[in-house]
Amino acid sequence: MARIAHLSDIHFGAHDQKIVDAATAWLEHRRPDLVVISGDFTQRARVDQFRQAAAWLNRLRAAGLRTLVIPGNHDIPLYDVVRRFTAPLHRYEKYISNDLCPFYEDDEVAILGINTARSLTIKDGRINHDQMDMLRDRFAGVAAAKTRILVTHHPLFSMPIGKGGEWSEAVGRHDDAVRAACQAGVHLALAGHFHRTYAESARRMVENSGGALVIQAGTATSTRLRNAEPQSFNWLHVRRNNAMELQVIVWDGAAFRRASHVAYDHDGQTWSSHDVTDSPIVNKADMQRLETGVPLR
Ligand SMILES: [Fe+2]
Ligand SMILES: [Fe+2]
Repeated sequence: MARIAHLSDIHFGAHDQKIVDAATAWLEHRRPDLVVISGDFTQRARVDQFRQAAAWLNRLRAAGLRTLVIPGNHDIPLYDVVRRFTAPLHRYEKYISNDLCPFYEDDEVAILGINTARSLTIKDGRINHDQMDMLRDRFAGVAAAKTRILVTHHPLFSMPIGKGGEWSEAVGRHDDAVRAACQAGVHLALAGHFHRTYAESARRMVENSGGALVIQAGTATSTRLRNAEPQSFNWLHVRRNNAMELQVIVWDGAAFRRASHVAYDHDGQTWSSHDVTDSPIVNKADMQRLETGVPLR
């Protein structure tokens, strides 16, 4: 079994230090096999913000935690137009990681990160055809029994993001990207960006999208919240490629605590949830109802 903590949208510069400290303590205590961080390390890609992010990452790594990281749109300078177009990810590569397509593999999982942040689109993300080829190639060599996990900052799929039923834009070249993920046999698609927790079978969201389970992480530590959804991160236990559990770890104003907990089975075609709690979406009003007495360890 692979124990994976999935954090996103850290946003140093618009972060709450006590929440960062609590997340750090949680990770150091739980010791996941891998900490996935799906972008937006900084608020405005400033040097001081990257230095804070690097210090935090170095602390996790010094504690012996393994990390897989990708940039988000906030890791590209917004107002420094020259830098944005000439060296958009220079600071990310200098302070966080110079690997923009990180890959991790162990006996049970193979995980590929792809950079979707672009200078031109600013907020929206994009995947290019070279990245789609890499996605197919990387996973083609992975043993069939392993769980193939794709990590992007922007989700490949359109997401419900508002209280009024609004849906987000999908990533650029969305149709091709979904086809590539489908051909690569992606089981889990992890992303962030919307500061909103969400999980759903891809097949229920988009036609011909393969058998992936789409898992969105909220913002772990930013003070900029969407729909007042509290800070959170995801705690995944992946058991081969046909069974996994997802528990959302939510900030309650004083501490991180366990909330929505859903188990999923894959029948070879698609994921279905058999619940430990009844909804993968968490907001403050739901927290009490969703809290479970069956925590993942
Ligand atoms: Fe963000
Ligand atoms: Fe973002």
